[in-house]
Amino acid sequence: MTLDGKRILLIISGGVAAYKALELARRLMDVGADVRGVLTPGGAQFITPLSVAALTGNPCYTDLFSLKDEAEMGHIQLSRDADLILVAPASADLMAKMAAGIAGDLATTLLLATDKPVMVAPAMNLEMWAHAATQRNVEQLQNDGIHFIMPGTGMMACGEVGAGRLAEVPDMVAAVEGFWSVGAGSLTGKHIIVTAGPTQEAIDPVRYIANRSSGRQGYAIAASLVRLGAKVTLVSGPTSLAAPSGVNFVQVESAREMAVAVDAAIPADAAICVAAVADWHITNTSDQKMKKSRDGIPQLEFADNPDILQGLSTKQEDRPALVVGFAAETQDVIRHASEKRLRKGCDWIVANDVSANSGVMGGCNNQVHLIDDSGADSWPQMTKEAVAAKLATKIASALDNDLNE
Ligand code: CTP
Repeated sequence: MTLDGKRILLIISGGVAAYKALELARRLMDVGADVRGVLTPGGAQFITPLSVAALTGNPCYTDLFSLKDEAEMGHIQLSRDADLILVAPASADLMAKMAAGIAGDLATTLLLATDKPVMVAPAMNLEMWAHAATQRNVEQLQNDGIHFIMPGTGMMACGEVGAGRLAEVPDMVAAVEGFWSVGAGSLTGKHIIVTAGPTQEAIDPVRYIANRSSGRQGYAIAASLVRLGAKVTLVSGPTSLAAPSGVNFVQVESAREMAVAVDAAIPADAAICVAAVADWHITNTSDQKMKKSRDGIPQLEFADNPDILQGLSTKQEDRPALVVGFAAETQDVIRHASEKRLRKGCDWIVANDVSANSGVMGGCNNQVHLIDDSGADSWPQMTKEAVAAKLATKIASALDNDLNE
């Protein structure tokens, strides 16, 4: 089983989604994990220590100063005995405390005392999730090396619709499995280039043409590859995301800058082109801001941008052993993407449907088809983080096979 022998400390904080933690514990146990539960005082308002203990078959810890718990297992030991600490659901309050390093109760003390990886699955009202303070805390925690299973979008218990809903249980299980599936260190010694985000093509000093890419899928892939031990160069267009910890981050604006940065990062064992690169740039850009009173409606002229993916795929020297492209399609997804793979010469193409109603561009979820020379493998819909984890493990096995050939 995928999680055989893995000890997971599951911290359940306050929120209506706390009941889903019980299902999560069971599903983790189904694939071999040993789960111990910790309930915060908020979490204990929604579910009971008894239900957590009964479902996991282990004691459920709630109180930092409980003598019984301390006699059986001190909090330092509890936090270090685990292979992974999983916080699900993570409330805005708990994340704020984690970001500030506050250790006032059992859960926060465990999170501060641990030397083990920590994964956080936030769940909260959409306004709380979108609030600048929460987003700041998420960024801080990501910089601190905390792994996120990002919330999904949908109907919330409070009746509102938006982002903030706890990731679905299968997605959380997939994220945890992805953490170990090929094994930490399976990409040690490998250099991988990832392109991500949109590009911005200047019109004048204040205006540009861009696209709706959030960069989230590319950043998640970079983070997953780092987790498996790779040295990752993330070449990114402008996004609102914090660079994942551990990557070599190269910020660019235009497609031409991205092409130069990618070239400078060669040699690499693999290149994953996730960026939504503009196909054209404007040749008659203005050095000064265009004035509508003076210049009227601009007549923009365009020229082709370099195709970074194609350039990497057809390199005569130093071609990465594995070149992966993404295909953003709005119709006939697999056929168009398969043609694109052959046209661009890459080894794999990850195809996704970005039509307006798919919610992929800028959204949390993705449903992709991995296409190689043997055909298309369609993955179920999952979060972009889960897609990233799964893709990273595939990349690790492909590079491993390549090495052993
Ligand atoms: N890509 C790239 N450089 C470009 C354009 C695209 O590296 N100048 C890469 C993207 O990062 C992605 C893949 O090519 O991996 C597919 O991009 P997409 O925009 O979907 O395809 P296009 O080449 O624009 O083809 P079409 O317009 O026919 O969809």
